[in-house]
Amino acid sequence: MQSMNKPIVVANWKMNPQSLAEAKRLFDSVGKGLKDIKNTEVVICPPFIYLPLLNNGGRTSIKLGAQDVFWEKKGAFTGEISSKMLKDLGCQYVIIGHSERRRYFNETDEVVNKKLKTALATKLNPILCIGETQQERKKGKTKEILKRQLTNALEKISDFRLHTSDFVIAYEPIWAIGTGKACSPAEAKRAGDFIRSTVSNIYNQKFAENLSILYGGSVNSQNAKPYIFEADFQGLLIGGASLKAKEFIKIVKSVS
Ligand code: 13P
Repeated sequence: MQSMNKPIVVANWKMNPQSLAEAKRLFDSVGKGLKDIKNTEVVICPPFIYLPLLNNGGRTSIKLGAQDVFWEKKGAFTGEISSKMLKDLGCQYVIIGHSERRRYFNETDEVVNKKLKTALATKLNPILCIGETQQERKKGKTKEILKRQLTNALEKISDFRLHTSDFVIAYEPIWAIGTGKACSPAEAKRAGDFIRSTVSNIYNQKFAENLSILYGGSVNSQNAKPYIFEADFQGLLIGGASLKAKEFIKIVKSVS
């Protein structure tokens, strides 16, 4: 079972860079370096506040994504951002359930489920993040955790609703995030295959076969290729390395 979708490379800038000028510079450099890339979907997810200033109305092929979204439509929710606001700014994707949100902001599977439903209702393509901690991995609980995260996140969401968006899952083992210790392609493949078969059980085989699953966790230009060409992932989710234009461009080119 392997999806033939064109690869998708997503930059998650997290809480970086520290000024608008730097954000613009980074965005422009990446746009220039990748202007001839056609067979790869490139998505940049900057902090919310930079989104309107990086929206260049499609002058480059780079798509914009957000790092989070609130589940309510509008109203008295101080500090939150709605999916309609994101759409209005030209966002096409949104990362949901990143492990840093789960860890620092107590996002539960239930919250992730609500956010997914909101994104789908507004046709914002969700990038659902799942992954195990080092402790869970050592106890041999990786599959159990992935299955729980998937089942709860997708509860009462039909494959029809997922189909009408470009729904993407990102496998991000928490122990590999920002540590420089990327998960080996072989181990990542086992998790990716398990995710696909779990999705197949929840929905059906055809849906699972067409699903894009990304790998994330300490990806750089030296280690990127095997995840796509050996481990059956359809893309990558990049943190630290996406903040260096040259490095990010190299990664995209290496999988294109
Ligand atoms: P790093 O690439 O810095 O390990 O971060 C991965 C990540 O969390 C992307 O969402």
